[in-house]
Amino acid sequence: MSCETVALDDAAKQIVIIDQTKLPEETRMLRLSTIDEFYTAIYLLQVRGAPAIGVFAAFAAYLCACGIKADDYEGFITEFDKCITYINSSRPTAVNLSWALRRMRDTAAAHSDEAVDGIIDALREEALLIRREDEEACRAIGENALTLLRPGFGLLTHCNAGSLATSRYGTATAAMYLGHERGYDFHIYCDETRPLLQGARLTAYELANAGMDVTLQCDNMAGALMASGKIDAVLVGCDRVAANGDTANKIGTSVVAVLAKHYNIPFYVCGPMSTIDSSIACGADIPIEQRKPEEVTDMWYTHPMAPKGIKVFNPAFDVTDHSLITAIITEKGIFYPPYSL
Ligand code: MRU
Repeated sequence: MSCETVALDDAAKQIVIIDQTKLPEETRMLRLSTIDEFYTAIYLLQVRGAPAIGVFAAFAAYLCACGIKADDYEGFITEFDKCITYINSSRPTAVNLSWALRRMRDTAAAHSDEAVDGIIDALREEALLIRREDEEACRAIGENALTLLRPGFGLLTHCNAGSLATSRYGTATAAMYLGHERGYDFHIYCDETRPLLQGARLTAYELANAGMDVTLQCDNMAGALMASGKIDAVLVGCDRVAANGDTANKIGTSVVAVLAKHYNIPFYVCGPMSTIDSSIACGADIPIEQRKPEEVTDMWYTHPMAPKGIKVFNPAFDVTDHSLITAIITEKGIFYPPYSL
């Protein structure tokens, strides 16, 4: 990608993002500066993908802090907590959101004996560090994942766990980018990812732009594809991994995992350590976002595609049982079952 997924324009006190709801037709940059714009950007998926949401939230917390008028730490932290609580309520499943906001909160607390300007300086440094660490983590995930792959492999991915979902490289796509640089000649397949089409609109777009061999398919074609023998490994991202390895990721991921098990294809979950939530014992405890029915019935169609008023089931994520996961690939190394994270 030629532009950063999430960037801080500190002079203008704005966060600059690519509006992901407009891709691939239009590359529209958004400059955001108010807390309502920050909340809405996350809720509407203008910025999305667990690590990118975390980086964005850190920048948002910093910019909110810049706007707080307070004479001392007590006055500052009361207002800062309100901002954090509001931003944190924008989406429930990706743990990177609350993880990044907690880091920012802890940073403020660690500088509580300084003047408010000093606290704000520390918050800017922390937010920039979160961004840098994300890029480094993604690259390390890619290096680790690449040790499990061979040149010429057919790889299937679901949703977008790519550059657009992180600071750079992506998680599930990191090995694809690194392999591409090193002549691995992977054949990559993306599920379109109903209902919001992150696979079609974002993954197919960014990998094709990078010059990779990419084929797009509807979600319900994964079984036929695997049966054809063209897939050697599945790589997906994650929004929250419980201590036992159960993994929440984009709706449909668990279906791909079941299919992969049937066809004896390794199923790898790729994510930074910040996506592991050891405080949650198993997937049943992961909060799953429910979204509007219109995403299923109307969105993308020129006219409604379902009976008016029909009941709609539209969870944004599902949980893949740990028993279906061959390995969890992080920047710190590769975890194999039995998982105890
Ligand atoms: O609803 P989204 O588009 O934010 O969902 C994104 C995913 O499910 C990704 O696979 C996950 O966040 C990992 S991104 C590296």
